[in-house]
Amino acid sequence: MQILDGIKLAKEIKQEIKSSVEEAVSQGKRPPHLAAVLVGNDGASQTYVNNKIKDCEFVGFKSSLVKLPNTVSQTELIEEIEKLNNQEDLDGFIVQLPLPSQIDQEEIIEAIDPKKDVDGFHPENFGKMALDMSTFLPATPFGILEMLERYEIPTKGKHAVIIGRSRIVGRPMSILMGRKDFPGNSTVTLTHSNTENLAEYTQHADIVITALGVPGFLKADMIKEGAVVIDVGITRVDDDSEKGYSLVGDVDFENVKNKASWITPVPGGVGPMTRAMLLKNTLLAYKSNIR
Ligand code: GUN
Repeated sequence: MQILDGIKLAKEIKQEIKSSVEEAVSQGKRPPHLAAVLVGNDGASQTYVNNKIKDCEFVGFKSSLVKLPNTVSQTELIEEIEKLNNQEDLDGFIVQLPLPSQIDQEEIIEAIDPKKDVDGFHPENFGKMALDMSTFLPATPFGILEMLERYEIPTKGKHAVIIGRSRIVGRPMSILMGRKDFPGNSTVTLTHSNTENLAEYTQHADIVITALGVPGFLKADMIKEGAVVIDVGITRVDDDSEKGYSLVGDVDFENVKNKASWITPVPGGVGPMTRAMLLKNTLLAYKSNIR
């Protein structure tokens, strides 16, 4: 078993982005600028957004945080988005999900200018992704592709089984893994919570990508010997540690690691790659050079 080290790779990518920013700034250009919209005070969302802002500082981006109360209305939120759409010196922004229940999430995502949608969530960008066109790729699937490429994991013609069909991870991952123009070019099966006999698919997979959010779901007897295992799941599980919780993936790591050829740890696998790819998308927006 070998570890796919997301922390190390993300550091390399951030270093590359930092050099690119330094070069632009040394030529007298303004630095790239990313904004995040955070609604309410969900602990996990606050942590994610704070981390994104720290990442911006590291690579030399300007960052802005727009904090709105949990009670914000649909109209107020759309007004904030319009301001960001029209802000000249802003390259991209994200609206951290999930949003409170009074908000229509789809309408919010559609209000974002696709050219500033560095999450790649806008239906226009999602459609372009599915049609092999140049666009922002959603950060988590993009990070997984980058990881497979940099570790030189063979994917062409391989059977990739994805567990979970979310709009952020599973669905775009299934599309990207099947595209010819990326590390991918795989034969893809998209499984989900209603799949019957799910293990029959995963047992035949060369690559398993789990994004289900069920701690320890993927057991050793569900994979074949030598499979590549990518764990996107990250669930807070209460325990008696100092923090009061730990972060647990979808994979029963201790047992699966003995059977897998490559495996991502949680934390320290996919998460840092997601963060790095948001920066990469912002840099692409800045250079108006989307992939
Ligand atoms: N919530 C969980 N993951 C993400 C993400 O990648 N982007 C946004 N905007 N919200 C999220």
